[in-house]
Amino acid sequence: MNSTWTLDMVINRALNMEEQSYKLYTGAIEKVEAPEAKAFLKELADWELEHKAKLLAIKDDPQKMKEFSLHMPKVQDLKLVNYLEDVPLTDPSDYEYQKLLIYAGKREQETYEYYDDLAKKFGDSDVGKFFARLAAEELTHKNKIEKEYDQYVLEWG
Ligand SMILES: [Fe+2]
Ligand SMILES: [Fe+2]
Repeated sequence: MNSTWTLDMVINRALNMEEQSYKLYTGAIEKVEAPEAKAFLKELADWELEHKAKLLAIKDDPQKMKEFSLHMPKVQDLKLVNYLEDVPLTDPSDYEYQKLLIYAGKREQETYEYYDDLAKKFGDSDVGKFFARLAAEELTHKNKIEKEYDQYVLEWG
């Protein structure tokens, strides 16, 4: 799995996922009430936008993968949402903050798994390290969402 067109396909799928996450978070900003919740969602949206920019940059110049994979964030998987039941986002009440956080945490988990899978497929190459970095960042997002969930449930819920 190392021909250019294959990498291109993988990047296109990643771009799609990032776009969907970005839309999820920006759309949700309108639907939550608390300013803290809005700010948190804005932060998440901005991070996905950064991912999109990185992916577009390496699509344009694969050499950039090297610099993007220099620092690998260390992150703990709290596995909080893993055992919670799926929540749909089909009607406005599903955007209730607690449900939204579960949905978002699970979505970050899926994105993490996609990148982690690619990281393993591409192994110890620049491509592999690039996706390992993205995987670690998605796990960071999940970690932040889980901490927010924890705090929300304990303090506001
Ligand atoms: Fe992302
Ligand atoms: Fe993310």
